[in-house]
Amino acid sequence: MNLILVGPPGAGKGTQAEKLTEDFGLPYFATGNILRDAVADGTELGKKAKEYMDAGELVPDDVIIGVILDALKGEEASSGFLLDGFPRTVPQADALAEALEKLGRRLSGVLLIDVPDDEVVRRLSGRRVSKSGRVYHVDFDPPKHPDRCDIDGSALIQRDDDRPETIRKRLAVYHDQTEPLVDYYESRDLLRRFDGTRTPTDVHDHIRATVATLRLEDEL
Ligand code: AP5
Repeated sequence: MNLILVGPPGAGKGTQAEKLTEDFGLPYFATGNILRDAVADGTELGKKAKEYMDAGELVPDDVIIGVILDALKGEEASSGFLLDGFPRTVPQADALAEALEKLGRRLSGVLLIDVPDDEVVRRLSGRRVSKSGRVYHVDFDPPKHPDRCDIDGSALIQRDDDRPETIRKRLAVYHDQTEPLVDYYESRDLLRRFDGTRTPTDVHDHIRATVATLRLEDEL
């Protein structure tokens, strides 16, 4: 299965991806995580991306497209993938479609997790992340011990782009540059919508059932 997760910042894409990769054993590629690792490692990619990420803007298409297409051509993604955070613009979606066609593959589905703007602000202001990328929320999904990851005990931190003014900017960028992908994929009959305001477990149950159906359809 070749799946994409789409939705505004803070919709719960990372939260759901963690569960879905366990359910379906899919290789997971999250552009935000790839870019944050590149920034932390001080690579050329990280140096190019940092300024845009800190400002809540998108990294230019020519910087990110090659990174993801290379990953999808690799062995790890040869039997399927779950993409989170890519594509985020129509040119990125076109580049993905072209690359998949060349590989003789196609998308199985695009999973849209929808959440209104005021909920996004509430969620991102309370988000805390571990070094390994495990996501918590101070109220909705707190760790067992304050500010420590349940899994590896590392200190939890707040992401640089989770400041209120940057959250507003990211939302504006989402509506302007990423939301057009909803029509793009709906017109190709690939879009599946999920109400992201429900509990993480409810959202997961709904998505898992849909993905199971998509898998059956793929096998036919
Ligand atoms: P990225 O890391 O992809 O950020 P994002 O899309 O803004 O998404 P988030 O990671 O903020 O949110 P999420 O939907 O994963 O929510 P989460 O599960 O954490 O991108 C960062 C930056 O990288 C971009 O701004 C851009 O600069 C750059 N970039 C990345 N991809 C790019 C691309 N393709 N092109 C160009 N630039 C790119 O949940 C959020 C919080 O809510 C958590 O605290 C969680 O515990 C809580 N929560 C989750 N679900 C629920 C629920 N159902 N109820 C209550 N709380 C919940």
